[in-house]
Amino acid sequence: MESIKEKINPDHLPQHVAIIMDGNGRWAKSRGKERTFGHKHAIQAVRNAVNACNEINIPYLTLYTFSSENWNRPDEEVNTLMSLISETLLLEAEEIFSKGLRMHIIGDIEKLPQLVQDQMNQLVEITKNNDRGNLILALSYGSQKEILGAVKQIGNKLKNGEITEDDINEELFENHLYTKDFPPVDLLIRTSGEVRISNFLLWQIAYAELQFLDILWPDFGVEDFFQCIYNYQSKERRFGKISEQLDEK
Ligand code: IPE
Ligand code: IPE
Ligand code: MG
Repeated sequence: MESIKEKINPDHLPQHVAIIMDGNGRWAKSRGKERTFGHKHAIQAVRNAVNACNEINIPYLTLYTFSSENWNRPDEEVNTLMSLISETLLLEAEEIFSKGLRMHIIGDIEKLPQLVQDQMNQLVEITKNNDRGNLILALSYGSQKEILGAVKQIGNKLKNGEITEDDINEELFENHLYTKDFPPVDLLIRTSGEVRISNFLLWQIAYAELQFLDILWPDFGVEDFFQCIYNYQSKERRFGKISEQLDEK
């Protein structure tokens, strides 16, 4: 039988996939365990997503790892998450490098513990010449803050006379977002059954295909990723036009 991966058309891949990795706590609870047990098991699912992406050569993968709102969780859970992120970076650094992946971070990085910041910066620096794919971690990330940050920078440039009001367009605005070097999101996946965006990449998903899966993140496998890509390929992305116009060259 043909596998789902073989059914994927390599000429019609999303360039940028973003994932809201949700459901770790419920996964653990359903096993009678503490929430942090779910976070530990989430790491294999992250590997699965990264490997699947790498296997079929999708150039940009953004993972929502910790939101600006997640700082409001109990201290113990936040501390465990920070330790896990730090451990995982240490353990996976070589693998990320050997896969030829270039690492990027988006978010309010300065809020992270210094150790995590240092590890992140190091990994970003070490992998900066890699060109087999981009792995973007959204850490301490909130889209509304990101947008407000852009507004403030643009406001300052207006005030200083660096730009005029007429210079403000979509392109200029995007150049003030964390994601300025990345293409827009083509496909957004959220696990856990929740159908919401939770302050993730609000500007960047303007025309993304959205897929909400009834899988809890620790159960997310390579095949699930390929299934999402296959489903994505069955969608007609019209960008406001009508079907007939899309056939015209
Ligand atoms: C996602 O899983 C991980 C983070 C948000 C850090 P959750 O911890 O949100 O798990 P649920 O949604 O409570 O099951
Ligand atoms: C979104 O999940 C953030 C991450 C996956 C990192 P949450 O579990 O924090 O989202 P809400 O609060 O249920 O919307
Ligand atoms: Mg959640």
